[in-house]
Amino acid sequence: MGHDGRVIEADGIVLRTRDGVTELIVNGVFAMDSTEVSSELALADAALPAGRVLVGGLGLGYTAARLLDGGADFVRVVELSAELVEAAERAATEQLGRVAADPRVELVVGDIADHVAGSWDAILLDVDNGPTFLIHDHNARLYREEFLRRCLAALTPSGRLVVWCEQESPELVAALTAVAATVETVIVTVRRGERTFDYALYRARPASAVSPAPSAVSPAPSAVSPAPSAVIAAPSAVIPANAGIPDAGPRSRSRDPGSSPG
Ligand SMILES: C[S@@+](CC[C@H](N)C(=O)[O-])C[C@H]1O[C@@H](n2cnc3c(N)ncnc32)[C@H](O)[C@@H]1O
Repeated sequence: MGHDGRVIEADGIVLRTRDGVTELIVNGVFAMDSTEVSSELALADAALPAGRVLVGGLGLGYTAARLLDGGADFVRVVELSAELVEAAERAATEQLGRVAADPRVELVVGDIADHVAGSWDAILLDVDNGPTFLIHDHNARLYREEFLRRCLAALTPSGRLVVWCEQESPELVAALTAVAATVETVIVTVRRGERTFDYALYRARPASAVSPAPSAVSPAPSAVSPAPSAVIAAPSAVIPANAGIPDAGPRSRSRDPGSSPG
């Protein structure tokens, strides 16, 4: 999409390009724009290398594109908005078109909650802001133990589940810790103009990934090992002030009236 203007507005989604910046608004909330995507890229990086990857949330396609660039063999992206998937299939933006046209990609319209099955090297969830700040109320279940357990069960033994959050969430760490072998935190620090935001990525591994202690008298390992949690990295990005877009807070997702999409 080389021209500014509205691309789609339907199905709770607005996708538009203005002043060379592509914006995505979901359910009336500013979701993201193309000026600052380091956390979307870091989400993919936290999973790579990976052969088969399941992604919840297409968005502007940055995470999926990064997986492809990183050598993924197959990427299935489950996206709630049929309009957004159609926009990708007709290459409404260059990035979305590129993702949709790649033979390694399967785009599925649906709720990721209904599409977790099979055996994946990685499952990436970037469908909402995190448990404390939901765009879609029905996504609350995606941050709870029952769904996270299902995700972990759909991973290969060395697989990874990575969840994007607008900020650190002790609640999500607790839920992951209850069901995973290990939980790591990656903080992605982003500057937008004068403001700095710390987004959090949580990477969890299934219990089957942890080898039992090599002792003849060691007790049988429990089904779910304790999950050590560690902050492992802090990539950062400094970007220029948001071009023409009201400063909307973390990842441009803020419900304060001054930041609502125009
Ligand atoms: C922030 S965007 C994803 C950004 C993406 N990582 C990227 O690189 O552009 C979130 C996307 O998740 C979608 N979504 C929201 N809830 C969903 C759900 N339950 N299942 C699948 N997709 C969902 C939204 O429509 C939106 O396209």
